[in-house]
Amino acid sequence: MIKPPRYLTDFDLTDLPSLDFDAIVIGSGVAGISTAYHLGKTAKVAVLTKSELSLTATRYAQGGIAAAVGEGDSPESHFEDTILTGRGLCDEEAVRVLVTEGPAEIATLREIGAAFDCRPSGSLSLTREAGHSCARVVHSKDTTGGEVESTLAATVRGMSGVSIFERVFVIDVITDDKRSVGVLAVLNGRLTAFLAPVVVLAAGGMGQLYSVTTNPPISTGDGLAMAYRAGAMLTDIEFVQFHPTALHTPVSPRFLISEAVRGEGAYLVDKNGVRFMVDRHPMAELAPRDVVVRGEFEVMRATGADHVYLDCRHLGGAYFAERFPAINDELLSNGIDPARDLIPVTPAAHYMSGGVKVDLEGRTGIDGLYACGEVACTGVHGANRLASNSLLEGLVFSRRAATNARAYIEKHTGRSVPPLKSITSDDGGTHTEGRAVMADLKDRMQELAGVMRSAASLTALLAFIRSKAGYTFPGGPWADDYELSNMLTVGYIIAMAAKTREESRGSHWREDFPEENDEKWRRHIVIEEGGDEWVKLKII
Ligand code: SIN
Repeated sequence: MIKPPRYLTDFDLTDLPSLDFDAIVIGSGVAGISTAYHLGKTAKVAVLTKSELSLTATRYAQGGIAAAVGEGDSPESHFEDTILTGRGLCDEEAVRVLVTEGPAEIATLREIGAAFDCRPSGSLSLTREAGHSCARVVHSKDTTGGEVESTLAATVRGMSGVSIFERVFVIDVITDDKRSVGVLAVLNGRLTAFLAPVVVLAAGGMGQLYSVTTNPPISTGDGLAMAYRAGAMLTDIEFVQFHPTALHTPVSPRFLISEAVRGEGAYLVDKNGVRFMVDRHPMAELAPRDVVVRGEFEVMRATGADHVYLDCRHLGGAYFAERFPAINDELLSNGIDPARDLIPVTPAAHYMSGGVKVDLEGRTGIDGLYACGEVACTGVHGANRLASNSLLEGLVFSRRAATNARAYIEKHTGRSVPPLKSITSDDGGTHTEGRAVMADLKDRMQELAGVMRSAASLTALLAFIRSKAGYTFPGGPWADDYELSNMLTVGYIIAMAAKTREESRGSHWREDFPEENDEKWRRHIVIEEGGDEWVKLKII
């Protein structure tokens, strides 16, 4: 059996080109860029981003940011909705932090120039999304993530303490005796070491492991895999959230039709035009995402259809175009007029509710290595994330990570980096083979570890990944070969955790264990690198 090596490439720090910083931030979505914003005021920060600064999953976020800023709303109510949606697995302390510190983050974004929609009175206009008991979602039409991303990007671009490196592929976090000392990355085609006492993983999610996803091409689980190889713990990784309404077209990523569309009154109907959520949950179309996705799945199975429909016709074409201009344009360019036509939609892999296990300050357990945003698991999402809590989590916990990291840098600046090196045996395949394996992996993840799983499907998936585990391509020049290694590792970990959890809870739905089992399973699965075995798995 071949398991991933500690490092995906050979290196010798004594003869690698290297660059020194106080902190290295991997990723430039909301969590990464906001970490850079906070840390860059006092420290020398490098932001390493796989694509362009603003081409991240954050930019794709349409609906908004949940925060208790409305009249009559309260952090307590936001707390209760988050806990209820998380199906018994949220960390209450983390949720308390999220909901009480959230409103200040909205104020900070507005101070630095983010423009959110307002009512004629000047107060913020708020919308509803699934699982929320009131209108609580701050938005900027249907491109809220874009507004947040571009505001933060413009701000950090003007900061002398922040250096931005675009199109840099980070291969691994370098560690010395459970202390992180920097990262190995491909910069301008050359293996380069970025050295710093602090490394902040903000590398986002893993939706691209699935053939049907709303996530951009960069979301290949690199951060999860490199944290795992470095010895950090991963938790709640079986909870891959599917979004109920991705536009049903044969492209990847699928275009998202924001939950805010249902928040503004759209219906979900089957091929006969019947609303199927009304009898399934008191909140109907605004039930939590896991409930809606299961409803869709059951309807599709029963009717033999491969999609259901969103019905927005009663909202009025002019209203729809004004409130959701980007969605309206995309639909029209696909020949769908939301004023007249039903919109075909399916569930699509959307968000990793688990991730690298961190404390409330973003610490991973490896000295100097922090994680925040989708790659991290603070415990706020439990088994199923509440809509629009993701941007909020990125903002709140990146600030906390930055505050802690600042103190860490003060204590550890000037510490020397030992002459580390690694020799990895080359057991990789060819690049061409790798492309085919990647496509195969995505299809199998979709079919065997998607919305519904079973012991049989997960066993088949694990066997497939083990058979391909030689595709590690050490030293290979292609970023997508490293990505494939990461995807195989993350797919394996997801399948292991999903097979272990013998119940259905939140976004983890087991055909062979359809009930939620609190007595046995109101617990977390924690996974770490397993020495001679692939993984060590604990249930806590
Ligand atoms: C959406 O706009 O539906 C996505 C929001 C989210 O993922 O929370």
